[in-house]
Amino acid sequence: MAQKRLKYPSHWLQAHAEGRKISMATCYDFAFARLIARSSVDAILVGDSMGMVVQGKRSTVPVTLDQIIYHAEMVRRGAPEKFLIVDMPAGTYHSSVEAAIENAMRIMKETDADALKLEGSTPFLIQVITRMVESGIPVMGHSGLTPQSVLTAGGFRVQGKTSDSAALLKEAALSLQAAGCFGLLLELVEANVAKNLTSQLSIPTVGIGSGADTSGQVLVLHDILGLDPDFSPRHTKKYADLADPIIQAFDQYTQDVQKGAFPGPENSFYAE
Ligand code: KIV
Repeated sequence: MAQKRLKYPSHWLQAHAEGRKISMATCYDFAFARLIARSSVDAILVGDSMGMVVQGKRSTVPVTLDQIIYHAEMVRRGAPEKFLIVDMPAGTYHSSVEAAIENAMRIMKETDADALKLEGSTPFLIQVITRMVESGIPVMGHSGLTPQSVLTAGGFRVQGKTSDSAALLKEAALSLQAAGCFGLLLELVEANVAKNLTSQLSIPTVGIGSGADTSGQVLVLHDILGLDPDFSPRHTKKYADLADPIIQAFDQYTQDVQKGAFPGPENSFYAE
């Protein structure tokens, strides 16, 4: 089983080398992981977006190391063969290189992840990523909008709209590639800037809200499935609209219970 799974990082890079687009979806639990495992999605991200879509918080910042490990472990059980990337939560890789490596190793050992994702590209983070890669941990970078810094970034805004900001994104992308990242997630990056970055890098880019010319795309599970009737921003697409059918199923169940139509004889157990 483990040996089979080890082919996935190279499968990912091979897709990029062959010019095939990479598809990635977030996931946070066993039940959905089992369904994604049966699909052709290339990679699963246990994203700290769970702070918002699972925990109902205002941002991703409150997610803790223990929580991401708890969720990633469940996802790995449901999708043992998929390439699994886990987000390092805010504050778990910022105090020192040693603490960052210790926390990263904890995630890798306790979740059986294939790789970690870290946001940002400050000189300190480049040092952290370099040491992680030297320690044998595959790292995906995350540039553009970095939600863990949303408070200092001034909100969820498209990045790279000015030439100065596009130049900073290029510098960040090249430093992350030089630090050893195997891929780069580009979040809410102006589409032409994302296209240029992708053509200037040898590692694949995976975009969200960054146009069609990245090496692949990532979407949040709840957005793909239309699980939140009150949230459908422009950069996402609902591939199913499940909120209403789910609410209707709960209503139908309640009506059946109320009128005695459930359980029926076929759902009950009787002595022979
Ligand atoms: O946490 C997350 O889900 C992400 C998204 C940008 C895909 O990083």
